Amino acid sequence: MWTRPSMSPRCVPQPCVLSMLGLLLLLTSLSAQNTSWDNPSCTQGVVSVSRGRRAVMACNISNAFSHITVQLRTHGKDWTIFSEKAPGCFSRAGWQLQVQGGQAQLVIAAAQDAHAGLYLWLLQGLQRNYKVTTLNVSGEAGPGRETLQARSQATPQSMVGLLVAVLLLILVVGALGWC
Ligand SMILES: *[C@@H]1O[C@H](CO)[C@@H](O)[C@H](O)[C@H]1NC(C)=O
Ligand SMILES: *[C@@H]1O[C@H](CO)[C@@H](O)[C@H](O)[C@H]1NC(C)=O
Ligand SMILES: *[C@@H]1O[C@H](CO)[C@@H](O)[C@H](O)[C@H]1NC(C)=O
Repeated sequence: MWTRPSMSPRCVPQPCVLSMLGLLLLLTSLSAQNTSWDNPSCTQGVVSVSRGRRAVMACNISNAFSHITVQLRTHGKDWTIFSEKAPGCFSRAGWQLQVQGGQAQLVIAAAQDAHAGLYLWLLQGLQRNYKVTTLNVSGEAGPGRETLQARSQATPQSMVGLLVAVLLLILVVGALGWC
């Protein structure tokens, strides 16, 4: 005679429990993560020098630079002076860029009209940030020259948080759907 073992009506879906556990772990690790922002700070506004004098512009961030790009906008055209992996010292046509740790310095030993304009900084540390500084080389002639204004652009750092939130929502909904 066969005695059938009593079938316990256990139907706990094991994979579902595991996935919920995984999700919980992910959530706690994310909340414990220490995201440090670059907090860039650059030379503000307009830097004015007389022709032939030394000009210095600088950008600092809280983390170390990984890459840095400096572009110059003159007469409505942008061109890249430097696009370099940090750290290092770089030199091109009268410009010198020194990058070490979280500090970057752009030095022009003898400023000429060609150096004047709007400097666009693309700063890469743990995030990407855009900053702008204007160099005014005084003594230059030419009425009707467009007035360039230095402006600090807001960085879309909050977008990262939003993205993470949306991803988490998708994960939660997916896990619940599976359960
Ligand atoms: C988070 O990062 C900041 C800046 O890097 C540091 O000062 C702080 O000690 C860190 N906190 C923890 C809990 O790791
Ligand atoms: C960058 O940091 C250096 C050293 O702390 C400081 O002397 C300089 O004023 C800073 N520059 C800017 C633009 O924040
Ligand atoms: C640049 O310097 C000249 C001479 O000092 C001044 O007249 C002009 O307004 C300055 N331009 C800007 C954008 O600050």
